[in-house]
Amino acid sequence: MADLTTIFAGIRSPNPFWLASAPPTDKAYNVVRAFEAGWGGVVWKTLGEDPPVVNVSSRYGAMSYNGTRIAGFNNIELITDRPLQINLDEIRQVKRDWPDRAVVVSLMVPCVESAWKNILPQVEDTGCDGIELNFGCPHGMSERNMGAAVGQVPEYVQMVTEWCKLHSRMPVIVKLTPNITNILAPARAAKDGGADAVSLINTIMSICEVDLDAMAPTPVVDGLGTHGGYCGPAVKPVALRMVGDIAREPDLQGLPISGIGGVSTWRDAAEFIALGAGNVQVCTAAMHRGFRIVEDMIDGLSNWMDSKGYRTIADFRGAAVKNYVHWGDLNLNFRTIAEIDQDLCIKCGLCHIACEDTSHQSIAKLRVDGARRYEVIEEECVGCNLCAHVCPVEGCITMVPQASTLPKLVWANHPNNPMRVPEPAE
Ligand SMILES: Cc1cc2nc3c(=O)[nH]c(=O)nc-3n(C[C@H](O)[C@H](O)[C@H](O)COP(=O)(O)O)c2cc1C
Repeated sequence: MADLTTIFAGIRSPNPFWLASAPPTDKAYNVVRAFEAGWGGVVWKTLGEDPPVVNVSSRYGAMSYNGTRIAGFNNIELITDRPLQINLDEIRQVKRDWPDRAVVVSLMVPCVESAWKNILPQVEDTGCDGIELNFGCPHGMSERNMGAAVGQVPEYVQMVTEWCKLHSRMPVIVKLTPNITNILAPARAAKDGGADAVSLINTIMSICEVDLDAMAPTPVVDGLGTHGGYCGPAVKPVALRMVGDIAREPDLQGLPISGIGGVSTWRDAAEFIALGAGNVQVCTAAMHRGFRIVEDMIDGLSNWMDSKGYRTIADFRGAAVKNYVHWGDLNLNFRTIAEIDQDLCIKCGLCHIACEDTSHQSIAKLRVDGARRYEVIEEECVGCNLCAHVCPVEGCITMVPQASTLPKLVWANHPNNPMRVPEPAE
């Protein structure tokens, strides 16, 4: 049986599934029920200074697509709106009662050293396992020069991280905002500031919908709307890319990464871990389906690891990083061609329409013995994958790599590249 135990930034948990800082971790009641369900750890909903923030009503928007509820999720909530002392007391009790689970506390206070110096000992005194610095919240708090307003300025990220390392002994995880062009800059700043790890992504600035009756972005608050933070399954590709960028960067090697963003299944988690994450955090999927989703996550990951012969998370962590390369490193001589399994094909014609109207006219529509039949014109097919993506039947269209005697050819050496430096023999 696979061992799912993880030690992330020195913090041990029985599995890599943590709940991200958000409503599921806002109070002891939730966190205890999450631990009963099997979650390996939590990042407590972000604490701030007293008096607590004030939230609006309503708070959530969602992107439902073609019958799929909550493909993406959006919120305009702030950090916790409960008094600091109540949270601290609950954290102390929960950690005492659940010593084998990770309890990390998310923090956001103004960008002045005295504010951090004041809150850090109070948090450390709870016995929690570490802190996560919320440099990501893209709404409400950023207008107060906190959250993403800090995360978007690498110098601030480094400065606050240094204060936290100076004024506490706890492991410091820096949570990064995706609302930035180059994720490597704040990741480097966190490392330079002494961070024990980074976590990403926080939410993406967004408007999910415009209510065409109210004529306002949703969620509508007394006739008005504002941008919120986007998360859920739709953001997973953005998060994976940013995690991969950090994991493959030579000067960031050894910096642990907690993967966040659209993790809903064990497979999502495995993908983040394969791209270099040491664990994952989950918010939207738990808000959508409840805490018990972790049972399937644990079983699924464990079974898959068994099937692959991985005994520990470390056995496959980062295994995909070396294969995540820059475009210029891809082999231009590699060729793949679509193949249609005629026994599985339901003759819907979607592949033909997509290819005929928008791609390379490489799927022929035929009549054979009076029946419709779709066939790939191999000479025309560029292997773009569109037909396989539009096909509604799993496994019906596959992309078949073509045998080739040509050597690997990258853009730097391609004859069409005006910047190419010819080989001396040419
Ligand atoms: C309603 C809501 C409230 C959130 N509050 C916080 C917060 O207080 N602190 C924080 O660091 N992230 C907060 N987040 C962001 C999540 O922790 C997480 O980074 C993000 O939702 C992406 O993960 P997901 O796709 O699994 O939801 C919040 C997210 C949601 C949906």
